[in-house]
Amino acid sequence: MSILNPNTAIPFNITRLSHVVLTSKDLDKTRYFYESGLGLEVTSHEDTHLCLRAIEETGHHSLVFEKSDGPGVARQIGYRMFSDDDLKRAYDYFNEQGHAAKFIERPYQGLTLQLDDGVGVPVEFCATMDQTENRMQRFHTHAGGRLAFLDHVQIACHDVAGAYQWYNDLGFRLTEYTAKDGTDEMWGVWLKRKNNTQDVVFGNGPGPRLHHFAFHTPEISSIIHAADVMASLDLAGSMDRAPGRHGIGNAFFIYFRDPDGHRVEIFSSHYNVIDIDHAPKRWELTDTRRSQLWGFPAPRKWFMEASAFEGVAVKDPLVNAPPVTLEDFLANW
Ligand SMILES: [Fe+2]
Repeated sequence: MSILNPNTAIPFNITRLSHVVLTSKDLDKTRYFYESGLGLEVTSHEDTHLCLRAIEETGHHSLVFEKSDGPGVARQIGYRMFSDDDLKRAYDYFNEQGHAAKFIERPYQGLTLQLDDGVGVPVEFCATMDQTENRMQRFHTHAGGRLAFLDHVQIACHDVAGAYQWYNDLGFRLTEYTAKDGTDEMWGVWLKRKNNTQDVVFGNGPGPRLHHFAFHTPEISSIIHAADVMASLDLAGSMDRAPGRHGIGNAFFIYFRDPDGHRVEIFSSHYNVIDIDHAPKRWELTDTRRSQLWGFPAPRKWFMEASAFEGVAVKDPLVNAPPVTLEDFLANW
């Protein structure tokens, strides 16, 4: 599949990634991990749910955990649209395409539209959310990883080309991509609506499953501080991938797994992509610098493990091209 032309005649205006809805077996444990460990703010904690947000966010939540006794699963990926008029146009657009879009009630959110996307990911869209003053200039409250805002999600996906086409039609732009060496077969696509490199990433693998969600922090030192804080709280065992720098997106990263196994990334060092002539950057699949610029690839579990979407069947990937893992790399070192 070759590079698609960006769609400048968008049917409605999706502005950015908004929030993620997941399940948790133990909301107190989840709260300890995200509030005491990573430094997120709790905006609501009831028997049934826990809502959190980051320092710069004025909306009620960017992370929602719903209590469930089952294994940890992902329930929704939430995006913002610009206005309720956009949501109403989207309702017609998606239903004409057979997506069975419906308006639902979501606490603390305005009009909310829910459907499954082109590759089966449960998604919802809203234009408004309850607003309160953020903690941006209450510096004495900044703790843990000093997380600024929810930036992107990454989805393990059986049909990366199909996801790219579906989101490109909605106005998402390709900023970077990985292709099977020497071919046009898309292995991973980094897609964005806001001004930086990504709101959603689709990477080849059994899916759809939620690989991770990522919060931005402005300082690399905050990523190191988060690791120190997690260690001092006896949460060091939750580190899923040690700090490093992605070639793709230039992100300085660390990954943790929360008490239910959901993977969360903290990262810094994005760059802007705004201009229409900013061409997508290509990476060959076997170039290990794409995932770790310093040369050490990610461990196998980082590539293979992910959170299921509740009730969504997992399909084998259409592209047969496993990535180079740390285990492969060390075997030849
Ligand atoms: Fe990421």
